[in-house]
Amino acid sequence: MAGEVGEVLITERQIRAKVRSLARRISKDYEGKELWLITILKGGVFFVTDLARALTVPVALDFLGISSYGPDSRGGEVRFTKDLDTSIRGRDVLIVEDIVDTGLTLGYIYRNLLNREPASLRICVFLDRPYRRIVEIPIHYRGFELPDQFVVGYGLDWHQRYRNLPYVALLNEE
Ligand code: IMP
Repeated sequence: MAGEVGEVLITERQIRAKVRSLARRISKDYEGKELWLITILKGGVFFVTDLARALTVPVALDFLGISSYGPDSRGGEVRFTKDLDTSIRGRDVLIVEDIVDTGLTLGYIYRNLLNREPASLRICVFLDRPYRRIVEIPIHYRGFELPDQFVVGYGLDWHQRYRNLPYVALLNEE
């Protein structure tokens, strides 16, 4: 049935292991620094809270709210509905996002944040479909590559549902 959760692609256990290994790499790369984690509401919230707890460097959190429009409602034009609370000028900033597909959303955000003159700016995405890219963006840390099928869970929604599933699963769109 349409909207029904299907096969589990990434289990809770696989998510935990991946978050730990990403956090190890990031903690090493930013040793001696304070890391500014910027997350896009709402999907990235689940990933960033897990990641932040696994990091060993000091972190600060801030959030961006966006709404995106596009021909297939998967992104395209981006409008900020919530800006960052504080300036990131001179900070070491890591954008933490749940998924990158065409790169339109993240590309827009990356350019926007770069203009605010952080000391450094990198991107960490949990899920990626690199073969769908329209806008090239530098991804420094990546969790899993996904097939070209709609997924839900671990932050990803279908009409605001299923974000809280502790795993990533296919969604029946028929
Ligand atoms: P973009 O194409 O890289 O700009 O991605 C736009 C947005 O589409 C992402 O931030 C997600 O919110 C959403 N999105 C892309 N693929 C999926 C999916 O499989 N499930 C749920 N949301 C998705």
